[in-house]
Amino acid sequence: MLKVLAPMAGITDGLFCRKLAHQGLDMITLGGYNVDAPTIEAGERIIQRGRSEFDIPLENISNHIEQQIKVIKENKLWNGWISVNLRSTTPSPVIKVSKLPGVDVVEINAHCRQPEIMDLGCGQSLLNDPDKLHLFTREVVKKARSKVSVKIRANVPGTDIIAISQSVEDAGADFLHVDAMKPGYSHADYEVVSVIKDSTDLFLIGNNSITDIGSAQKMIDAGADGFSMARALINGEVPFDLSMVDTRKWRI
Ligand SMILES: Cc1cc2nc3c(=O)[nH]c(=O)nc-3n(C[C@H](O)[C@H](O)[C@H](O)COP(=O)(O)O)c2cc1C
Repeated sequence: MLKVLAPMAGITDGLFCRKLAHQGLDMITLGGYNVDAPTIEAGERIIQRGRSEFDIPLENISNHIEQQIKVIKENKLWNGWISVNLRSTTPSPVIKVSKLPGVDVVEINAHCRQPEIMDLGCGQSLLNDPDKLHLFTREVVKKARSKVSVKIRANVPGTDIIAISQSVEDAGADFLHVDAMKPGYSHADYEVVSVIKDSTDLFLIGNNSITDIGSAQKMIDAGADGFSMARALINGEVPFDLSMVDTRKWRI
């Protein structure tokens, strides 16, 4: 059972991740980072209207990520995995990050719904085009030195979650990270997690509104192979005993 810190742009840097890593998490996610010129410019416009973002110039991005990983690894007792959530208009910057020392997983962000990012055809707009998402993911899988995750959002009007999940599976991704958001509800859409699990053999990380043992266990019972949390960890503390959720071993 993989227990994951989900990405929060502007928050999940090396220091934040290091603190949480030592509270029972198996994988922590840095970012999301914008890693090409168009997404970096979009990020600057997002900051101007008051949203939290990492604002790293293109020429510093690799060095910045390497530094964050060094911060996390300062305490050698933690031997979990480091994932880096990335927004890019093309696969090559994602492949480049996969080759940085200490990067275990690159996560393609097909989740961000900020209009400045979606207008570039990346983030959540990739969900409207499963073929494009497939080609993007396949290229990263083919050339990456790390494992590959794809982060998606469920229940986006006009999208087909099964087609999306299968396009990610056919591309050879190692993880599908699903924000199982259920509009109008304060809990995840556990049913959509079961549907994805029944239609693919993907390693599925279920996300959304996990705040306690009960909600984590529901995600697992729905068929997820792991779960992730973002907002529940925003204060830098895991709010419940992760060892109580499940004892099944995870593997990929
Ligand atoms: C401040 C903030 C920033 C976020 N930034 C990112 C991001 O950069 N990339 C991403 O894939 N998801 C991002 N998310 C979404 C979370 O990873 C997660 O999918 C979402 O908050 C639902 O999970 P939760 O209920 O555990 O918070 C962000 C969420 C928050 C609250």
